Amino acid sequence: MKLTVNQVRAGCEWQRDLCRKNASPTYAAILTELIGRLGTDEAVTELLTADGQDPVQSALCLRLFGAVNRVAMAQSASWLKAYYPTFGGATDVDKAVPAFFDFLAANLDAVRDQMTVSVQTNEVGRAAPLSAAMNYVAMVTGLPLRLLEVGASAGLNLLLDRYFVASGDTSWGPADSTLRLVGHFASGQPPAATSDIEERRGCDLNPIDAHAPGTDGLLRSFVWPEHVERGRRLDAALKVARSAPKLSLDAADACTWVSQNLAELPRGRTTVVFHSIVLAYFTPDERARFAKVIRTRGAATDEDRPLAWISLEPSDDDSSVVNLVCEMWPLGRRVVLATTTPHGTQVRWDPKEDRHQ
Ligand SMILES: C[S@@+](CC[C@H](N)C(=O)[O-])C[C@H]1O[C@@H](n2cnc3c(N)ncnc32)[C@H](O)[C@@H]1O
Repeated sequence: MKLTVNQVRAGCEWQRDLCRKNASPTYAAILTELIGRLGTDEAVTELLTADGQDPVQSALCLRLFGAVNRVAMAQSASWLKAYYPTFGGATDVDKAVPAFFDFLAANLDAVRDQMTVSVQTNEVGRAAPLSAAMNYVAMVTGLPLRLLEVGASAGLNLLLDRYFVASGDTSWGPADSTLRLVGHFASGQPPAATSDIEERRGCDLNPIDAHAPGTDGLLRSFVWPEHVERGRRLDAALKVARSAPKLSLDAADACTWVSQNLAELPRGRTTVVFHSIVLAYFTPDERARFAKVIRTRGAATDEDRPLAWISLEPSDDDSSVVNLVCEMWPLGRRVVLATTTPHGTQVRWDPKEDRHQ
C-alpha cells in the first residue's frame, strides 16, 4: 500500500536525527533537502511513497542511500568520489546535496530497482570486544571453541581469530593480519590468550557470501559517507574472508537454528552462541523464546560439554551504550564483561558478575 507523505516525512526525520547523532552531516543535509521536497518534487515523492514499507522498520532512507550509492558506483560517478570521504573525497554538503538530487533525477528507475535490497551491514569493529569475550570463555573452560553466530550477515565476525587485536600492551590474533583492530579498548585488561576455534557456523535471514563478486559493493554502499574507518575495516575484513575457506552460513531464523544446533553439544569443546546488534530485530516474543532455548539447553549440560552465550547488544535505556555479556553453563555464571559503542570502539573492559538473572 502507498505511504502518505506524512509517514515518509516522519521516517526521514527519524533517520536524520540518527545521522546527526552518528557523525554523518552529508546524509543529514540530504535528508533535510528531501523533507523539503516531499509533496512538491513529484518524482521524489512518488519514489518514496510508492515504496509501501514501514519507513522506520524497513530503513527506507538507508535503502535509498544504498541504492543511489550502488548505481553511482556502477557509473563511477565523479560526485561520489569528490564529496563522500568513504570514496576518497572531502565532505562538502553544499555541493553533495545538489549532486545527489541531480543524479537521483537522472537515474530514478535504476534507483527504484535497487531500493528493494534490504540494508545489510557487517561491522567488524565488533570483533575487538567479541574476540576478547571468546578469550575469556576459552580461559574459563580451557577447551577449544565451537562458534555459532546468529544474525551473522556475511559472517565477518565469525573470523575474529584471523584479525589482529591490540589492547594496551597486550595483543592477540595474527600480527600480519590485513585487519588490525588497534585502539578499540579504552580501559581494562581483557585476557590476551588466543582462543582455539575448531568449528564455526552462522545463520542469518539474508546471509551474504563474502566470496561473491558483488559483496564488497553491496556492503560498501551501506557505509555512511563520513565513516571512513568503517569502510577501511570492511575492505580489510573482506580480504581476510576471501583468503579463508568459505563460511557455513545458513539462511534461517535464529530461534529454529539455535535450537537445532544446540540439540547435540560436542564433548571436549565449548559451544558458544553469539550475536551482535541483532536482538532489536526480534519481537519481544522471539527474544524470550531465543533466551529460553539457550538457557534450557545450558541447564541440562555438563562440564564435558560447556555452553556459553555471548551477547553484544544495546542497553535497554541507552542504545548508544552496548553491553558485552557472557553466560556460561554448567557454571551458571552471568558476567557483564564490558561496555562499548555500537561499532565496537571505546571498549571498557570491566567484568562484573551479575547475580540478578
Ligand atoms: C545490524 S545487522 C548485524 C550483523 C552482524 N551481527 C554484525 O554485527 O555486523 C543484523 C542482522 O541480523 C539479521 N537478523 C535479523 N533478524 C533475524 C532473525 N530472526 N534470524 C536471523 N537473523 C536475523 C539481519 O538479517 C542482519 O543481517
